[in-house]
Amino acid sequence: MNTQKYTVITGASSGIGYEAAKAFAARGKNVVITARRRDRLDALKKEIAAMAPSVDVVIREADLSSNDETIALYESLKEYEIETWVNNAGRGDHGDIVEPNLPHTMGMIHLNVDSVAILSSLYVRDYKNVEGVQLINISSIGGYVIFPGATVYCATKFFVSALTEGIDHEMRAGGYKLRAKVLAPASTETEFEQTANELEEPVDYSKSSSRYHTAAEMAQFLLTLYDGEKTVGEIDFEKFTIKLSDAKYPYFG
Ligand SMILES: NC(=O)c1ccc[n+]([C@@H]2O[C@H](COP(=O)([O-])OP(=O)(O)OC[C@H]3O[C@@H](n4cnc5c(N)ncnc54)[C@H](OP(=O)(O)O)[C@@H]3O)[C@@H](O)[C@H]2O)c1
Repeated sequence: MNTQKYTVITGASSGIGYEAAKAFAARGKNVVITARRRDRLDALKKEIAAMAPSVDVVIREADLSSNDETIALYESLKEYEIETWVNNAGRGDHGDIVEPNLPHTMGMIHLNVDSVAILSSLYVRDYKNVEGVQLINISSIGGYVIFPGATVYCATKFFVSALTEGIDHEMRAGGYKLRAKVLAPASTETEFEQTANELEEPVDYSKSSSRYHTAAEMAQFLLTLYDGEKTVGEIDFEKFTIKLSDAKYPYFG
């Protein structure tokens, strides 16, 4: 057993996950970074080594749209003590209901729903009684509001929000030590729009959006949520701030 503590970040090969890994590493946190693109993870590891040489970076390649690979990823980390698990990997699927592309939509559901359910459940099972541990799931403003043209994506993010809030209720009600938190980003300049719309070229956010955050800004909001006691961190699109609150979905408890 490795005696150091680690922060796991899924979807660390680009966007919010990439910057989140750097932000945790800048605080001296050892990180496990995972995604499908090995070259990106290698580049991130080099970047972290240059800025925080004492930080250990562990790489795991996994396709989280496969339940088997998702479970195998978790099992492969048994030797590490994981103080924070961030389920960030996710993607969009715009235009889904009007002109459905079922393979694309189902791949998104497997990634956004199945992998988050599996990894959250396994982490809670193993770490619920450990002091100071956190499960942070990346939802979206679309996890609380339905955006036109993104109904199924929003439904997956409603799932992420409800799952995470529910876990936190259950942890508090049962006297467990683990805290579960949900970050709900607004528009952020990443590969998200390119992937959601299956585009060949990267999207120029300065041309397509009037307001958006950088991934580095979103990573700092993630740290604000991590540092606080509140369960939900929603990005206020107009004010460019994070609004921290208790769980928002009703709980019959
Ligand atoms: N950008 C926004 O405006 C926005 C707004 C609200 C919420 N979000 C949420 O923020 C999270 C991060 O997205 P982002 O904006 O940073 O997008 P991004 O730049 O496209 O990053 C997505 C990450 O997920 C990984 N990923 C995608 N499919 C995967 C798969 N099948 N298996 C494993 N990893 C996979 C990607 O890595 P590989 O391709 O290398 O596997 C990449 O590292 C997502 O959950 C997204 O829904 C984003």
